[in-house]
Amino acid sequence: MTVVDLGEHAEEFTTNPYPMYAKLRAAGPAHLVRTPTGDEVWLIVGHEQARAALADARLAKDWRPPAEEGYVELPAGANMLETDPPQHTRLRKLVAREFTPRRVEALRPRVQEVTDRLLDAMPATPGRSADLIDALAFPLPMTVISELIGVPDLDREAFRVLSNQAVAPLSGDEGAAAVGEIGVYLAGLIETKRSAAPADDLLSALIRTRDEDGDQLSQNELIGMAFLLLVAGHETTVNLISNGVRALLNHPAQLAALRADFDGLIDGAIEEMLRYDGPVETATYRFAREPVQVGDALIPAGAPVLVALASAGRDPLRHVDPDRFDIRRAPQSHLAFGHGIHFCLGAPLARMEGRIAVRTLLERAPELQLAVAAEELKWLPGMLIRGARRLPVRW
Ligand code: HEM
Repeated sequence: MTVVDLGEHAEEFTTNPYPMYAKLRAAGPAHLVRTPTGDEVWLIVGHEQARAALADARLAKDWRPPAEEGYVELPAGANMLETDPPQHTRLRKLVAREFTPRRVEALRPRVQEVTDRLLDAMPATPGRSADLIDALAFPLPMTVISELIGVPDLDREAFRVLSNQAVAPLSGDEGAAAVGEIGVYLAGLIETKRSAAPADDLLSALIRTRDEDGDQLSQNELIGMAFLLLVAGHETTVNLISNGVRALLNHPAQLAALRADFDGLIDGAIEEMLRYDGPVETATYRFAREPVQVGDALIPAGAPVLVALASAGRDPLRHVDPDRFDIRRAPQSHLAFGHGIHFCLGAPLARMEGRIAVRTLLERAPELQLAVAAEELKWLPGMLIRGARRLPVRW
């Protein structure tokens, strides 16, 4: 089996992976590739096969051998996204109870308020230009998720650095050290909340929650849960806002259409942003429990597998004229939030934040434009998260 070396044109691939995905899709739905960081993995690039893989129990998350019986205590840093049923079912059920659409809807006024406050600060900036990520795309989801979990005084800049390290393709040691440091911080926080009067926040609720069988989250599970929610809650939404605004600014006719009819088009615009250039380029690692046939490729037992959500979004077998950004596309579900049992728990929150952020920004900045040429943008490394490091804009 030939290995496709994605590291050969690593910079080009990170800047714009879509031509490479198109080439791979034309050759077949799954390929053995070497990632820019040197790992050999199976990459699934076709929409239909990606969707099937995300729901395939043979492609597991937890690479540790299944325990003989009963539930195995998770190490700190492990969480529902790293587990399979029955552990996954149990962890997800305990948090889903606290993460209902009603709780999310109740956050709407606060999301609008935080957005307004952040945008109030923008026009005052000398030269009327700013990095949209620093000004809005990062602080909005970070503030919302910190308040929701109940860590309003989290040192957000320090957390941002650690969190970036935890998801970036660094040497294993650095990434693990960052995860460890966040774990220590969260352990202290959980202790404080345990001993304090019950507060009305998600982490306090998770500490107290029990299901009908009296099942409860252990200390490690609480740390893992808070870690996952904090990281997943902002590493992604920041890039929905920044990739989405960038796509609009690069497509003036689409931008004008949206400005003319926010009520009618904002929901579709957000879905198109997710399909066209979503924040999660590949889903997290899966491992083949047994040989799995995908198209002509036979993925051997034990092999790591990445599902390229970004490629699925551009598959012409699924989407007509997939490289065209069109906010009025007929609704056709995409895989930007994943699929199957690990489907994004935060999708309703992310959609709400995206709609409010993009709409309010455009309403308040009628002449918003990019302040640098596309070639000058620098991109986040790795294949997990897709987005620019900074998005300088002018208005
Ligand atoms: C636009 C923003 C977002 C995108 C594109 C996104 C995308 C995804 C994707 C693709 C997965 C599945 C990964 C896989 O199967 O390997 C996922 C899972 C998850 N996401 Fe999101 N996410 C976003 C925002 C959020 C937010 C705001 C939260 C929390 C507040 C969140 C919490 C989670 C959790 C807890 C999981 C794991 C679910 C499970 O394992 O059952 N996400 N997300």
